[in-house]
Amino acid sequence: MSTPLIEIPATQHRIDMGELSSYVGGQQLTDIKADDECVSLRWNDASQGHFPLLWLRDHCPCIQCRHPLTRERLFVPLADIEVAPQATLVKGNLRLQWADSHVSLFDAVWLHQRRPDNDIDPVGELLRIRRPWSTNFVPTHVLHADSMSEEGERHWLETLLRDGLVLLDEGPLADEEVSRIARRIGPMRASNFGARFDVYSKPNPNNAAYTSIGLALHSDLPNWRQPPDIQLLYCLQNDAAGGESLFADGFAVAEALRQAAPQAFRTLCETPIDFRFQDEEQDIGIRAPVIELNATGQLREIRFSNWIRDTLRLPFDEISPWYAAFRQFWQLLHDPKHQIELALVPGQMAAFDNRRVLHGRRAFDPTTGKRHLQGTYLDIDMIESRLRVLQRNP
Ligand code: OGA
Ligand code: ZN
Ligand code: ZN
Repeated sequence: MSTPLIEIPATQHRIDMGELSSYVGGQQLTDIKADDECVSLRWNDASQGHFPLLWLRDHCPCIQCRHPLTRERLFVPLADIEVAPQATLVKGNLRLQWADSHVSLFDAVWLHQRRPDNDIDPVGELLRIRRPWSTNFVPTHVLHADSMSEEGERHWLETLLRDGLVLLDEGPLADEEVSRIARRIGPMRASNFGARFDVYSKPNPNNAAYTSIGLALHSDLPNWRQPPDIQLLYCLQNDAAGGESLFADGFAVAEALRQAAPQAFRTLCETPIDFRFQDEEQDIGIRAPVIELNATGQLREIRFSNWIRDTLRLPFDEISPWYAAFRQFWQLLHDPKHQIELALVPGQMAAFDNRRVLHGRRAFDPTTGKRHLQGTYLDIDMIESRLRVLQRNP
């Protein structure tokens, strides 16, 4: 794990050089040079950085430029800076005095981490490392008790981001434990099914999940503009016959489709279809493609739920090709080499990336025993946030 990005802590707003040098063991500046365009710096590890003047002025950490309590930016960078500041080294850190005599003090390590063209954000990097499942993928298990320590929590959250699926084992058989786990990370993301939902067969179900039928691989709430990022499903009871959980890495399978059937892949990327949920109170729908790519052609998200696909509203000529593409994707997803199956045991929780990894379950027989899961959702922003906070004390 790389060094976390240091922030100038809120308590350090009365910034003085004694405090600035408190990042022991970090880089120190050895050379500085300022002209009317930029300040060039060299550190004691021989690295170099060039900082445009306006960038430095914009990032001044003093209490006129940053709010002393919130540390949020007050300075607004509207005027260009065309006069070289006076630059001096103070205990290996940088002091700049600007033409209007404003003084900015910069920590050497803080500057080193943010030198242009060398942008690092350890959590951002982690998010980019999505490891596709191999055909013999086995999910990582973390003990619930271990996830309570900072190190264990970091491990399960990092695994969740990397693999899109992680299991927490041997948790308590306690109502709402899923909510307690979620709240340690961030506020639960509410939906039309509530902030925290129970999955068992209900007398008047408004959703296939609340019956005992099998659920083919799907993502939750693809009918929302912003489907939930992360889903937690906590097993409290599972002694009915059947009800095994199914998972598949939608990104890995979409890449397999891109290779095997490029035309089908393109059809699913380029054809928005309707997803819609309706009950007595709500009617929530969106038109979006099954596979969404970002501007550089990388996978961004999979929307997949056969039972809340709405009427397929497409021009006549596009209907048959769309079904053919859907069928190919479906078959690949449900191929045993891509789909994994496991039986959740009471006290076990699956956490997964709902916009990448598809989930499902086998049918169960409610006359043979009880099956009860509790679930909730989290925004991925909160997972990233939690990891950044945990990295403050590596
Ligand atoms: C759901 C769901 C899975 C299960 O509630 O959306 O997929 O195992 N449940 O019951
Ligand atoms: Zn300032
Ligand atoms: Zn689901």
